[in-house]
Amino acid sequence: MSEAEKIKKHILQRYMERTKQSRIHNEKAKQFLPGGDTRSIGYYQPYPIFAEKGKGAYLYDSDDNEYLDFVNNMTSLVHGHVHPHITLAVRKQLEKGVVHGIPVEAKYKLAELICSRVPSMESVRFNNTGSEATLFAMRAARGFTGKDKFIKIDGGYHGNHDFGQVNLFPDMATKDLPRPYVAKGIPKSVLQDMLVTPFNDLDTTEKLLKENRDKVAAIILEPVLGTGGAIPGSKEYLKGLRQLADQYDTLLIFDEIITFRLHQGGYQTMMDVKPDLTTLGKVIGGGFPIGAFGGRKDIMDMFDPTKPDSMTHSGTFTGNAMAMTAGVATLEIFRQKEIEELNKLGDILTSGFQQAMTDTGVVGQVRGMGSMAMLYFSSKEMKTAKDVVTGFMEYGELLKFFHLEMMNQGIYFLHRGMFSLTTPMTEADISKTITVFKETLEMLKPLADKISK
Ligand SMILES: Cc1ncc(COP(=O)(O)O)c(C=O)c1O
Repeated sequence: MSEAEKIKKHILQRYMERTKQSRIHNEKAKQFLPGGDTRSIGYYQPYPIFAEKGKGAYLYDSDDNEYLDFVNNMTSLVHGHVHPHITLAVRKQLEKGVVHGIPVEAKYKLAELICSRVPSMESVRFNNTGSEATLFAMRAARGFTGKDKFIKIDGGYHGNHDFGQVNLFPDMATKDLPRPYVAKGIPKSVLQDMLVTPFNDLDTTEKLLKENRDKVAAIILEPVLGTGGAIPGSKEYLKGLRQLADQYDTLLIFDEIITFRLHQGGYQTMMDVKPDLTTLGKVIGGGFPIGAFGGRKDIMDMFDPTKPDSMTHSGTFTGNAMAMTAGVATLEIFRQKEIEELNKLGDILTSGFQQAMTDTGVVGQVRGMGSMAMLYFSSKEMKTAKDVVTGFMEYGELLKFFHLEMMNQGIYFLHRGMFSLTTPMTEADISKTITVFKETLEMLKPLADKISK
């Protein structure tokens, strides 16, 4: 058995020894839930850990192993687990009811907090998920412009609905421009209205706008490609999109469901670009299910029921008291000051990781953006989701074992290579993580060397 194979075997064995209860839970869960879970993203091999509890920056599994949590439910728990300020607010609200079927004060308080921080969001509506938020932002764009088509990014993620799922993973089959495609279960008819462009590519976007003059309702994108590989949109690109949208009389939608954690006014404020509509989610719910779409008042006013021919937007649990209360409590203590402190901690993590890669000679790069970092075991430039997937296809196995070994050492990050930080994390936590990161690189060097050859 080669050195690399021995290391892999050792890591896997150790993982399985440490997580016996999780393994039992998985076996039981698989009897009733396909694959043992109700969300696809949570799965990684050989099986995911089951949560017992979370506290602050830490997560505890069913075997009572402790993990520093860099996933925090897909970047949503920005204050970590069971934050006292949020827990107190939520407990008080629980005594008064979860959802009432009539509005609560927290609803407009959360709306005010958001609109006062994000200049382009003049008014806002809430949803239960980010997927619904992008669905409604797209619907709003159609309603406002009377046009049906959208330009979306190859490998961009906007949630579960059919239009958002087009080219969820980048088109790897086409050499030049990506072709729109849908995954199993999504009707091909949605392709009639979906145009796809690579990220960070203004020329292709303009070409599509020219070819589809007067037909495009909006360009929708994450200003930092999230699921597609944490790639930032350059200022020039985002400003260019704004110009193109104006020139071709189409709307610009920024999906800031992840990037809202980077600045109190979102990534758009950092880049000084004003989209027409924005979608938010994750952190604004303080751990509860939430989504929001908002933007220009003249567009959002279409949802005002007092206006003639208004657009419908409903949902039994939309704006429920728990999510609204938790959201207000979260944003009260997630102001620019706290965001900058968290971003600084992120910078320490990123530079520490990068230094560890240099010191150990493992080929790769760590791209950081404030409180988020992304690890690639490739030194190639990452400009599009296709670049990321190409790299991943080469080093996926290394990342898989790197992920499991970091978990064996008590560090939990997203198995795709993403780390996101939470406010309860300390410099000592980050320093410990960098040490474990370096030790894990050293341990896996024979496998890394084999792959980079
Ligand atoms: C950029 C972006 N848009 C939309 C969504 C969908 O949000 P939700 O999972 O709350 O439906 C996500 C979730 O990861 C996201 O990252």
